[in-house]
Amino acid sequence: MISRLEDRLVVMSAICTHKSCVLRKQDKKVLRCPCHKSFFSEYGTPTEGPAKIALPRYAVTLAEDGTIQVDTTQSFGEQDWDNPKAFIPLTKT
Ligand code: FES
Repeated sequence: MISRLEDRLVVMSAICTHKSCVLRKQDKKVLRCPCHKSFFSEYGTPTEGPAKIALPRYAVTLAEDGTIQVDTTQSFGEQDWDNPKAFIPLTKT
């Protein structure tokens, strides 16, 4: 899932951290898991239900031609979301 979060573009997993069901969008700011009713904020942090671990984010870069490249072999847990590889900084206009 690609999301713009404030001044960052991030790519996060759409797989529930409880038992790996695919998440659905509840609304613009909430993700829900249809399997056991976990909910996640737009940032990927669990807010309700059995899931207790945030959604991992993947390494992401902006190529010179403007394409977004995602490396799913490198993932970042919540404690590493400020790692520069875990987001593309966006400038405000
Ligand atoms: S798999 Fe998502 S809440 Fe259980």
